[in-house]
Amino acid sequence: PAVATDGDRDVLLAAPRGYCAGVDRAVITVEKALDLYGAPVYVRKQIVHNKHVVHGLEERGAVFVEELGEVPAGATVVFSAHGVSPTVHAEATERGLKTIDATCPLVTKVHHEAKRFAKEDYQILLIGHEGHEEVEGTAGEAPDHITLVQGPADVDDLEFADGTKLSWLSQTTLSVDETMETVDRLRAKFPQLEDPPSDDICYATQNRQLAVKEIARTSDLVIVVGSANSSNSVRLVEVALEAGAGSAYRVDDVSEIEDAWLEGVESVGVTSGASVPDDLVEGVLTFLTERGYPTATAVHTAEESLIFALPPELRKDLRAAG
Ligand code: F3S
Repeated sequence: PAVATDGDRDVLLAAPRGYCAGVDRAVITVEKALDLYGAPVYVRKQIVHNKHVVHGLEERGAVFVEELGEVPAGATVVFSAHGVSPTVHAEATERGLKTIDATCPLVTKVHHEAKRFAKEDYQILLIGHEGHEEVEGTAGEAPDHITLVQGPADVDDLEFADGTKLSWLSQTTLSVDETMETVDRLRAKFPQLEDPPSDDICYATQNRQLAVKEIARTSDLVIVVGSANSSNSVRLVEVALEAGAGSAYRVDDVSEIEDAWLEGVESVGVTSGASVPDDLVEGVLTFLTERGYPTATAVHTAEESLIFALPPELRKDLRAAG
């Protein structure tokens, strides 16, 4: 392959990238809980899907558990940004645990939509990935009313009795384009399908996909920083490839970048998922500079200013502590 000379090389940095309002709030929630109540503070599931964030909080005294059974009676437990089903809330109450719910408000919104549609006797087609915590939480709001649809290919097998009222909802971190394809297929088969009152794919997911599309068009290589279990990060790789990137890889941090990826590469695009602290992106940019790629140029496609208030139960305790 042709070797690029420095003059031809460029690095484009997607903006927005990295932390969304829901992740920021969830991480601060655990930090403040540790300050206020002291370690250990238990967290059910990874607070956000990023292994560096989880590891950093573990070092400060957070204890991550898979299920509430692992939390000692009377302890404080934080629910992750992805949300939990009502059965988890019930179990916490039964066990006398003190809970702080760091579910992203935009996930809670989808829970409300699920409850409302179920109450009005709709069958809900929930577009999302099986086994993802958010899907488990949302589906738990109305288990008898929800059918999981993982993508366009699932639509053919769906059958509902004539006259069934149908609506759809989605996981907040899907590919916008693929979800629209799934919805089109659903509507073609079930013309009575009703739309949710507003987008379920959240602003942060949408903005990061738009930004990566913009840089991918002219990038030989796109590097997405994010963990393997981060849905929105994995989608960024897919979206980059669809938008025309020569190649695209997801890395947890700079140590996972392979020199071979850079062979013959003149333009590199860099972005990160919604659960990724920006110092991990800085590490990638420093690496690229050392390899002869110039300082990155930011490509702005949206401005973000959303901030969520901390969970009310935590705010109350913070106030009481003065
Ligand atoms: Fe919330 Fe979207 Fe972030 S649902 S946690 S704002 S990726």
